[in-house]
Amino acid sequence: MASEIDKSKPESSSIPKLLVLVLATGGLGVTAVMGVVAAFVITGWIGQPVPVLGFEQTFDQPINFPHTIHASLSPELGRIAADGTNLEGLGLDCTFCHRTVTTQANAGVPAVGFCATCHQVIGAADNPELTILRDAADIVGDNGPEPVNWRRVHRLPDHVRFVHEPHIRYLTQNPDVVNGTTSGVKEGPAGVCSTCHGDVAAMEQVEQVEPLKMGQCVDCHRDNGAPTDCVACHY
Ligand code: HEC
Ligand code: HEC
Ligand code: HEC
Ligand code: HEC
Ligand code: HEC
Repeated sequence: MASEIDKSKPESSSIPKLLVLVLATGGLGVTAVMGVVAAFVITGWIGQPVPVLGFEQTFDQPINFPHTIHASLSPELGRIAADGTNLEGLGLDCTFCHRTVTTQANAGVPAVGFCATCHQVIGAADNPELTILRDAADIVGDNGPEPVNWRRVHRLPDHVRFVHEPHIRYLTQNPDVVNGTTSGVKEGPAGVCSTCHGDVAAMEQVEQVEPLKMGQCVDCHRDNGAPTDCVACHY
């Protein structure tokens, strides 16, 4: 009896104090968490092209390579002629440059010598971006070509295994699973890239538009009878 009364008394009077305490430490906690998050976001942005909070990221490349001009067929995204009219993009197939995407783990980015097969002659002689390209390809020809260090836009952590080949094969055979389009096309190897990369042909600079987090990989694997055991994707 007495103990019940004793209990309720101090409790009621200590509630406000407790509240103040909880609010104060809670506030501190929130500040601390936000600090950590901010630090994480900042180091993420500066240090690595890996998505942290927002996954849409883009940055300058050693050569400002426009997918629009090369991969799109749309006049709005293509070239501007000397007289100011819009010309179609070249509509090159994605696999024309990303040659190993249908056969290997990596899609591959072409060597600068490959670009030079066209750009030795194509494009204005004084175009600054093409000057970087022609110097790297050593078209004048005394030093040998130097590789262009393209910055990676999409990169999974080292403990994750990703292979392009089975995805391109499966999506090509199952167009209903393809998400989005490439220049309005949904079929053929180049038509399926949008599932994970968005419409790259419409991008002046490539950016990551899908989170490509584990949940997304596993969901699609479950829905399409692909393996979901850890070792399928982890080393
Ligand atoms: C003329 C050659 C060429 C064509 C055609 C081309 N690409 Fe690329 N692609 C490149 C080069 C060079 C880079 C590296 C520079 C950059 O990121 O912009 C690249 C980068 C990329 C990246 C980013 C890679 C990373 O770092 O994560 C993706 C995704 C991509 N291309 C997809 C496509 C798709 C999809 C198509 C077809 C719609 C396509 N590409 C057509 C040359 C090409
Ligand atoms: C099949 C031929 C072909 C290939 C291969 C090719 N390009 Fe191009 N590229 C073109 C054409 C055509 C233009 C438009 C030129 C113009 O309108 O003056 C162009 C334009 C450009 C421009 C200039 C963009 C601007 O705004 O002026 C850059 C930079 C460029 N290409 C980089 C590259 C790189 C890097 C590669 C290799 C990954 C590459 N190209 C491969 C044909 C090609
Ligand atoms: C199922 C999702 C998926 C599809 C479909 C897909 N990619 Fe990728 N792509 C990725 C992921 C994930 C990465 C990052 C891989 C890594 O970091 O190991 C990547 C990386 C890349 C890269 C940069 C690294 C490399 O492999 O050279 C290029 C270029 C690329 N993809 C092009 C393409 C093209 C072109 C297509 C269509 C033919 C395509 N991808 C279809 C998920 C996909
Ligand atoms: C659009 C659906 C889809 C997405 C998104 C996807 N996958 Fe897949 N993946 C598949 C399918 C379907 C297969 C099996 C293809 C086949 O061989 O028939 C597969 C196969 C694989 C394989 C080969 C497995 C084996 O042992 O044969 C690996 C590794 C893999 N995926 C990793 C990933 C990773 C990592 C991601 C996320 C970055 C991812 N996948 C996203 C559909 C998807
Ligand atoms: C279909 C491919 C796939 C499968 C299957 C898969 N993972 Fe992952 N996992 C990923 C990818 C992609 C990442 C990196 C992106 C991310 O952090 O979500 C990842 C990240 C992780 C991480 C690190 C998370 C972090 O925050 O850094 C752990 C831990 C992990 N996976 C454990 C597992 C375990 C345990 C299993 C089996 C039950 C499993 N995974 C199965 C694709 C897969």
